[in-house]
Amino acid sequence: MRENDPSKEGFTVTPWEVEGEIDYQKLIEDFGTDNVDEELIDRIEEVVGDAHFMLRRGIFYSHRDMDRILDDYEEGKKFALYTGRGPSGHTHVGHLMPWIFARWIQERFDVDMYFQLTDDEKFLFNFDSTLEDTHSYALENAKDIIALGFDPDKTHIFIDTEYIHELYPLALKVGKRLNFSNVKAVFGFDNSTNVGSIFYTAIQSAPCFLPTELEGEEVPVLIPCGIDQDPHFRLTRDIAETIGYIKPALLHNKLAPSLDGTGKMSASQPKTTIFTTDEPEDVEEKINEAFTGGRISASEQREKGGDPDICSVQNYRYYIFESDDGKVDDLAERCREGDILCGECKQILKENIKGFLSEHQERRDRAEDKLEEFLVRDCE
Ligand code: TRP
Repeated sequence: MRENDPSKEGFTVTPWEVEGEIDYQKLIEDFGTDNVDEELIDRIEEVVGDAHFMLRRGIFYSHRDMDRILDDYEEGKKFALYTGRGPSGHTHVGHLMPWIFARWIQERFDVDMYFQLTDDEKFLFNFDSTLEDTHSYALENAKDIIALGFDPDKTHIFIDTEYIHELYPLALKVGKRLNFSNVKAVFGFDNSTNVGSIFYTAIQSAPCFLPTELEGEEVPVLIPCGIDQDPHFRLTRDIAETIGYIKPALLHNKLAPSLDGTGKMSASQPKTTIFTTDEPEDVEEKINEAFTGGRISASEQREKGGDPDICSVQNYRYYIFESDDGKVDDLAERCREGDILCGECKQILKENIKGFLSEHQERRDRAEDKLEEFLVRDCE
């Protein structure tokens, strides 16, 4: 039985399965993390001058040891960032959330960033995929990361199968300390799980200790990631000190919602997910079809107003596409008052997304020539 038992809670959150209406507060309790509270946000603001909208809006809502990262930082000890991506397909805008945030952290704190592309993971967990597929998506995804403007001198992107010489000794140290019954309980594995998948968590742990190895001195690591990835790092934290490293700290984000109003944005639901490679027509079509909090007819909506709280259009704006709080609040208010109808509101979002994507795609094309500058390899 997995730790987050869907039969009891009506939702499931594991690194490989997210389903149902997620109770994020319950996850904080189940996983044993801390809330990102006002005090922490104020403190970040004090240290770097401002707080990203994803912090203010409760999107990065949970953490482990972020206060320790700030304590160390204020004493002059720099941390390193680590995050990653399982290259199972093209990047969608939900994936960009933690990366946009990580980019902000890198800039404000002036720190190194390690980015893991797990072609091995997606090969092991997706029965039909080949290593060639996952490797080529890793390169595609790397272009999205580069396009977000990470500092080339401080950003190290690696694909597991090409960086394994560096990762393997660390993964072995982790693997030796994890027992199967624990890994099984945390991830919900059973006797039919392939043995590659059982070891995989050790590979995702390894980069938590990589900066320390590469720098030859203790470097604390901060991981901005979706809350669904926490189970891996809970295991890492349990054993870190026994193998001579400090526990990685984490900042967790809520998962980006899908356009149909149910659950999380998912690459397996292409019609309700916006990919970074989508054309303007795709955006038009998907937003036209998006679930809203609108009423049955225009006249009823004018009279009674809509419900922005359940609206996926408003959610997209809130989570990613509108950094201006004033604009988000204003549109929500106009919706409640019946002053704006869904068509017009969708139009505003479409323009935001198309504007974002056209710039992103231009930078993404240019990133093709920068791949070698960002990728670190220890074998081909
Ligand atoms: N398992 C993650 C995924 O499927 C990829 C990943 C590897 C990752 N290392 C990470 C995600 C560190 C967040 C932080 O996308």
